[in-house]
Amino acid sequence: MTRRILLLGGTAEASALARALAARGEDAVLSYAGRTRAPAAQPLPVRIGGFGGAAGLAAFLRAEGFTHLVDATHPFAARISRNAVEAARATGLPMIALVRPEWRPGPGDVWHRVPDIDAALAALDGPERRVFLALGRLSVAAFAARPQHRYLLRFVDPPQAPLPLPRADLVIARGPFDEAGETALLSRHGIEVVVAKNSGGSGAEAKLSAARRLGLPVVLIDRPAPPPRPEVQDWTGVLDWLDHASMLRGV
Ligand SMILES: NC(=O)c1ccc[n+]([C@@H]2O[C@H](COP(=O)([O-])OP(=O)(O)OC[C@H]3O[C@@H](n4cnc5c(N)ncnc54)[C@H](OP(=O)(O)O)[C@@H]3O)[C@@H](O)[C@H]2O)c1
Repeated sequence: MTRRILLLGGTAEASALARALAARGEDAVLSYAGRTRAPAAQPLPVRIGGFGGAAGLAAFLRAEGFTHLVDATHPFAARISRNAVEAARATGLPMIALVRPEWRPGPGDVWHRVPDIDAALAALDGPERRVFLALGRLSVAAFAARPQHRYLLRFVDPPQAPLPLPRADLVIARGPFDEAGETALLSRHGIEVVVAKNSGGSGAEAKLSAARRLGLPVVLIDRPAPPPRPEVQDWTGVLDWLDHASMLRGV
């Protein structure tokens, strides 16, 4: 049986893995949820949109003849990661998650770590501040419950609906970002506190370096607990796993 890989993507790490798989001539398909209007061009065939839960993903894996499943989605994309584990179990396919390491505080960081969005909201109790809400489009609406602040938002695509926050400035930009640019952005908007997810990775880390440089506090939302599953931290680990998993199965 020849190897055929479904790669669940939507991250820079998934794109790096896609390049590596294409370079090795692997038969692989990259899957996007479809949140971004114009995803970056990819060297692998791409499919877009949800599968219809774990059962839908399992049916798709079977129907399309996949032999391996790689979950390289964002560490906060909890639903698809749970579905991937369930679908791998249902189909008996080997699966692995590519998960970038968390950010850890260093000297000069003023981080308030919180478990979830509700706790981040609670951390914003109190008088008006200028807040850089470094969260995706889908996560910012909850902050309407703290309307006293002035928010800076940054999205990849221009929003199609009015912003859910009454006092917000919007920047449209796609990472990766660098420390100098992030420092300039925070200074220009007079930002006093940054709210971010502990996504990890290099492409989004510059806002934390900029906050450190400016002495600003960061409310950092912890990752949801992942389901038990095998994990590697970089794409080379996925290639090693593919060769190893194939050897074990004799394919
Ligand atoms: N959450 C974040 O902070 C964040 C940040 C950057 C990028 N992303 C990326 O954006 C995508 C969606 O994130 P999310 O937070 O909405 O995830 P989620 O809550 O775990 O997923 C919601 C639903 O979207 C569909 N889906 C998610 N990822 C998919 C993929 N790669 N291919 C096909 N369908 C997918 C699945 O629909 P069905 O159940 O119908 O299959 C899933 O149940 C992910 O691919 C993730 O890597 C997320």
